[in-house]
Amino acid sequence: MTTAPSGSPLSNSAFLRAARGEAVPHTPVWFMRQAGRSLPEYLKVREGVGMLESCMNAELITEITLQPVRRYGVDAAIFFSDIVLPLKAVGVDLDIKPGVGPVVAHPVRTLEDVAAIPDLTAEHVPFITEAVRTLVGELAGVNGGTPLIGFAGAPFTVASYLVEGGPSKEYANTKAMMYGAPEVWEALMAKIASISAAFLRVQVDAGASAVQLFDSWAGAVNRDDYLQYVQPWSAQVLSSIGETGVPRIHFGVNSGELLDLMGDAGADVVGVDWRVRLADGIQRIGPDRGVQGNLDPTLVFAPTEVMTARAAEVIEAGRAARGHIFNLGHGVIPSTNPDQLARLTDFVHAYPLD
Ligand code: CP3
Repeated sequence: MTTAPSGSPLSNSAFLRAARGEAVPHTPVWFMRQAGRSLPEYLKVREGVGMLESCMNAELITEITLQPVRRYGVDAAIFFSDIVLPLKAVGVDLDIKPGVGPVVAHPVRTLEDVAAIPDLTAEHVPFITEAVRTLVGELAGVNGGTPLIGFAGAPFTVASYLVEGGPSKEYANTKAMMYGAPEVWEALMAKIASISAAFLRVQVDAGASAVQLFDSWAGAVNRDDYLQYVQPWSAQVLSSIGETGVPRIHFGVNSGELLDLMGDAGADVVGVDWRVRLADGIQRIGPDRGVQGNLDPTLVFAPTEVMTARAAEVIEAGRAARGHIFNLGHGVIPSTNPDQLARLTDFVHAYPLD
């Protein structure tokens, strides 16, 4: 357990202070999917290297994670990996296809399929431990100490790839299992919860300062189904690292109807999708948790002054929260001009809070 000692520069960073609901010198900002995607320096180091291959190479992970920190001076680094990497590491036959996403060779449909997936141990992912340790050392010297966010996929979202065999719009097979084969669903969710918890634990034990649990596709279910079939497993993952004391961020797309329940799953900070007015999101999440978000990622394609005017509205709304971490309301769009994200970062940093 390697939480930054209280009083250390890292522990006093704007990002960790906001995550704990403490006063900040400026609104901290980072961008979901800031590593990879739009940066020319990323495309250069990835030339001829497959996505999963790069996620298993400590040197590349370290370089790609640091690239957006160098370029933008964001308040946190997000570890370069993928939500399906732990499955690959335990031997599930899958690939990440460019422009498509994760594709699973043999979709999981039966109890036998679930039982065939091994649990994850630190021995499966030595490159993760190595990269996190190197990054934590490097980031200590950046802007007075920049925290590293570790992450994992939440059980529902990871299950959707395993059951559908790839990306999906309706999640019909996933929900058919959920409603029609509860014993298979429970076994699968328990398996993924254990793998995601172990994956987060490896990152926190190696020195990550915070974690984000991505339940990107949880918005596909309604509140009652979320409570019955999804939340208990996300709660299991989040509580498994509770004793480490690192802040836990929980995010889903299209999750406006679920924000309070995603907080109740055991998050310290709830990520708000761009479709929700941040003020409404804060109301739904309540006074006991921080918020992260939520500028529409397409606003980077608007004139700079339109983008920054909207960013100002987000910052102003965020003041009502127990703590606010500025972010986009979903990941950076691949065609984003990095110069706009640089201007956005500078704008958020310069925005007066008094
Ligand atoms: O910058 C970061 O946020 C760190 C790296 C990161 C990646 N994936 C790298 C990646 C993170 C945090 C993720 C999380 C992830 N992966 C999520 C949750 C976040 C979200 O966007 O909601 C999901 C749903 C996945 C699954 C996945 N992997 C998708 C949907 C895709 C995109 C397919 C595409 O190309 O549009 C991937 C591929 C992926 N993950 C890339 C990167 C940099 C593109 C890789 C490539 O094709 O070269």
